[in-house]
Amino acid sequence: MNLAVGSHNFSEALAQNELFARVGKCADELGVSVYVIGGFVRDLLLKRTNKQDLDFVCIGSGIALAQKVAESFEEKVPLSVFKNFGTAMIKVGDWELEFVGARKESYQRDSRKPIVEDGTLEDDLNRRDFTINAMAISLNQATFGQLIDPFDGQKDLKRRLIKTPLDPEVTFSDDPLRMLRAVRFATQLGFDIAPDTFDSIMNNAQRLEIISMERIIDEVNKIILTPKPSYGFKLLFVSKLLHQFFPEMVDLQGVETVQDKSHKDNFYHTLQVLDNVCTMSDDLWLRWAAIMHDIAKPATKRFNKKVGWTFHGHEEKGARMVPTIFRRLKLPLNEHMKYVQKLVRLHLRPIALVKDTVTDSAIRRLLFEAGNEVDDLMTLCRADITSKNDLKVKRFLENFDKVEQKMQEVEEKDKLRNFQPPVSGEDIMNAFKVQPGKEIGIIKERIREAILEGNIKNDRSEALQLMYEIAAELGLKR
Ligand code: CTP
Repeated sequence: MNLAVGSHNFSEALAQNELFARVGKCADELGVSVYVIGGFVRDLLLKRTNKQDLDFVCIGSGIALAQKVAESFEEKVPLSVFKNFGTAMIKVGDWELEFVGARKESYQRDSRKPIVEDGTLEDDLNRRDFTINAMAISLNQATFGQLIDPFDGQKDLKRRLIKTPLDPEVTFSDDPLRMLRAVRFATQLGFDIAPDTFDSIMNNAQRLEIISMERIIDEVNKIILTPKPSYGFKLLFVSKLLHQFFPEMVDLQGVETVQDKSHKDNFYHTLQVLDNVCTMSDDLWLRWAAIMHDIAKPATKRFNKKVGWTFHGHEEKGARMVPTIFRRLKLPLNEHMKYVQKLVRLHLRPIALVKDTVTDSAIRRLLFEAGNEVDDLMTLCRADITSKNDLKVKRFLENFDKVEQKMQEVEEKDKLRNFQPPVSGEDIMNAFKVQPGKEIGIIKERIREAILEGNIKNDRSEALQLMYEIAAELGLKR
């Protein structure tokens, strides 16, 4: 292999951050070669703002070098050593520096086998995932700033290509997660995947089964957080990687026609909704709600001679599918899951409010049920309008503006977004000297209903008055 030194010298760029010269100096003192490698180099060449983590490879012990670098600071810097992995990490301010000795074997973070640090730089670069990630810049003083680019990663950056340095079959069998990483980098950078690399992904998609769901979902979330995740999901679908972990989403694909009536392809519709949401919000969970909003359409699909295709109840069934899917995908089963579930459940409701005859009470109910999520719900609903007919889209969006206007008016009057019952269970128990029991629930629910129906105002004195009336009906005495 030709470890050609590129024509560029990056000493000026590296001088921006004193850490590089410091690491080089420590390595010189230990008599080892050291390089900054991987994502930092790629992003530097792309002039992309890079994250705050730096990967260093040295020809020798990464742990010993990390210790030396940590000691070089006057103040104490946190050092973590992972002996089994042969790596060490130090934190300096916002920067995370990871050190590893060059390896002959595949670069495997989750490997349980102890790593033998006996490779050359050439061995190490050989076993990395993509040509654009297999570039290194020397940090030792004598060669400071020299780029080492054995697989012409610079050319692939220019061609905007994700390509494995070795035969892709070898690179992917070293770590099948790299198939997903290929899609993730392609989506983040807007690159293509080289044909032989993509063919190999198609051949090996099933091997994703040996990868933990946590690592998979980490990559998937990175795809979702790009400006146009549909590109990544199309690659996942065509390569059949998606089939390995998210069959429910795969099931959305396809168009069925009966008696000349077809429904839309819900996979591509979902991707369009997702892209639309991405132009309006960076929130990962709102993006997940877009992915899941129609997830139960295949399960609820029916054909009816009069009306054609229907998907009755897909919003409720979809909401019930959310916890199962989150559990399997190792997504958190906390308030984020509940949020996604709520949006899936309510995603058709604002559309139902697009009528001139809509009552305040219908608006109040939605405000009450959506609570703080009402704005995100409206974002999702706007994104859900994917008709090719621009005029139709425009009309729908204008109608949504009206719904929002009404919501605002009702909210100003009735303050239902963060509804707190104006009369509490304790109020009821104190007023009638009763123990907790079903009467409390009945009274509270009837008060809430009266407020939502607009029969009383959302205020304490009207609610108290109603409480006494209901209590009398129930035979409670003061
Ligand atoms: N790497 C690899 N195979 C993997 C994971 C990582 O070959 N499965 C190598 C690549 O050379 C990569 C480097 O390790 O550049 C650092 O990995 P990581 O921090 O995960 O990725 P970055 O390239 O830094 O990308 P990002 O900026 O998105 O984190």
